Amino acid sequence: MAERAAIDASPPREQWTGQVGFILAAIGSAVGLGNIWRFPGVAYENGGGAFLIPYLVALLTAGIPILFLDYAIGHRFRGSAPAALRRLGGRRLEALGWFQVAIAFVISLYYTAVIAWALSYFVFSFDLRWGDDPGTFFQGDYLQVGAPGLSFEFVPGVLVPLALVWIVTLAVLAAGVAKGLQRTNVIFLPLLLVAFLVLVVRALFLEGADVGLNALFTPNWAALGDPNVWIAAYSQIFFSLSIAFGIMVTYASYRARRSNLTAPGLVVAFANSSFEILAGIGVFATLGFFAVQQGVGVGELEGLTGVGLSFVTFPAIVSQMPGGPLFGALFFGSLTLAGFTSLLSVLQVVSAGVQEKFGLSRVQATLRTGIPAAVLSVLLFSTTTGLLALDVVDNWANNIGVVGSAVLTTVLVVWVLRKGRELQFHLNSVSTFRVGRTWIALVGGVVPVVLGYMLVSRIVELAVNGYGGLPAPYLASFGWGTIALAVVAALVLTALPWRNGRSDFVAWPPLPVANRQPSERGDR
Ligand code: ALA
Repeated sequence: MAERAAIDASPPREQWTGQVGFILAAIGSAVGLGNIWRFPGVAYENGGGAFLIPYLVALLTAGIPILFLDYAIGHRFRGSAPAALRRLGGRRLEALGWFQVAIAFVISLYYTAVIAWALSYFVFSFDLRWGDDPGTFFQGDYLQVGAPGLSFEFVPGVLVPLALVWIVTLAVLAAGVAKGLQRTNVIFLPLLLVAFLVLVVRALFLEGADVGLNALFTPNWAALGDPNVWIAAYSQIFFSLSIAFGIMVTYASYRARRSNLTAPGLVVAFANSSFEILAGIGVFATLGFFAVQQGVGVGELEGLTGVGLSFVTFPAIVSQMPGGPLFGALFFGSLTLAGFTSLLSVLQVVSAGVQEKFGLSRVQATLRTGIPAAVLSVLLFSTTTGLLALDVVDNWANNIGVVGSAVLTTVLVVWVLRKGRELQFHLNSVSTFRVGRTWIALVGGVVPVVLGYMLVSRIVELAVNGYGGLPAPYLASFGWGTIALAVVAALVLTALPWRNGRSDFVAWPPLPVANRQPSERGDR
């Protein structure tokens, strides 16, 4: 009876239409820019084939356990990050939820910009618009990069696609969970997979593909002794799996009462890693071709990761390759699709958080969060200083924001509030793949210790050595300033009253397997 009362007390909540819709949306969120432009270079720079060991260890010891933790919190407490965490542990945890929202907000500002670049480059591919010198074209003609600082000199070539990305994104979010997010993922994810598979197969038939694959997969075992390699593996998994910044908490909250959580979680995690390795193969086979054309080793090529890889090295390769325009269109089209489905999930975190706290309708929440975000994104990233700001904000948001949030979540939930068992029981009461004490040991032990070490060493390194040789005041405003603003925003939003009166909302009691009510429809 108490259980039924608790269910009845819940506000009507949007839902995925079924398990497949959820899985596709969660994979769409995980597979993003991080898979295509970050993973291949990170793997190459951190031991090549040997990197797969720390990568797999990070996936199994932190990635999947935190994915399950996010699912358990979102599903059991049926809310966006601030609401679900508040119901789990009071105001302290609500503040953590808002910190996650703030980090997602910051990530959305520049993530949109990269998608806008990819969209432009998709169009540029058809006539190889970057000409003979893609580096100069990207920084000079396209981005019109100026001196570090804050300029309000807009670059129309970036502004127009950026505005377009924002308009389409907000339209999808306003359409809701099933009709917007799920439908878009159901269409775009298969499209991405087909486009990317065609690209990888083409890359494998290029002359020199084997040279690239050897460069990527030849293990440098000595790298395993370097703590930075392990840090790189854990960082990659966090951003890539979309964990610890509110996304999976929010997505799991839209699942039906009786929904298998852990088994789909494994599908999502392994699908994401498979895509990542596929991206490594595609990118390095292509780089092998380029190295052979230039008569140099892969290691001598410049721009093997991030912005340089996608927007300078790849265009240069596309120009040299037979059928280059189509290859370029496939690459930039894939980047756009992968980025877009992830962006939807990042912004849903912000919109859902505000919607629940202030009792807004979905459309109101989308507009009230999306329009300021779009304006800020345009102001910061479609100007001549956008590229530099993006690099710095990305570094701080990921390495300090996301990792810090993961450490805080595990310490507060497992150590301080001792909710590990409750969440374990919740996962097991609805899921087919059961988690044991090992899960609690990982979430409460390995994750805070390894990530805590990572976080402290990153903070010390950035404080002592700075970043990219940039002036300290610049880093203080765009790097540390971003984190400080996120903390202040979290505290202010926590202090504001709940307008829908639901902050004391009752959780779903765990459903022991034997006691499931046949009348309760689930989507397993
Ligand atoms: N998980 C998304 C990515 O990898 C955010 O880009």
